[in-house]
Amino acid sequence: MLTILTILTNPNPILRNVSKPVEPAEVLCPEFQAFLDEMIETTKKDGVGLAAPQVGINKRFIIVQTKKGLEAFINPKIFSTSIRKVESEEGCLSVPGVWGIVKRFSKVKVKAINRLGEKVMIKASGLESIIFQHEIDHLDGVLFIDKVEKFTRNTIL
Ligand code: CO
Repeated sequence: MLTILTILTNPNPILRNVSKPVEPAEVLCPEFQAFLDEMIETTKKDGVGLAAPQVGINKRFIIVQTKKGLEAFINPKIFSTSIRKVESEEGCLSVPGVWGIVKRFSKVKVKAINRLGEKVMIKASGLESIIFQHEIDHLDGVLFIDKVEKFTRNTIL
């Protein structure tokens, strides 16, 4: 059985650190692969994305819901963006009970390493593009509430 990881919530300081890159040699380690599976299992419960700092690890890797399902991306970097931005309504497992409107690029190209250790370039649009931007922000210690234009279904603040 896979462990469901504990999700840290704001204002935990771990969420505010700038995370360090993963060593490429670490990607294929069984321990790292098992941790990715646990992160995917944890995301499945309630989300469409998850970043390592949310489960207490200040390293640069994320889980994103793509057309293929929940996939891991290691050392993801936004390579290019559309000029156009869109408004998205976002929430975050680390900021429970709070939703708000954030302006995001409508499309992004993301360079990353996949869980097989291969370099990949992903062209994301729609919700997938939003998830990448939200999760990569976590790796830089940024939460969506820092960028929110207007809170919407706000049940806590
Ligand atoms: Co989040």
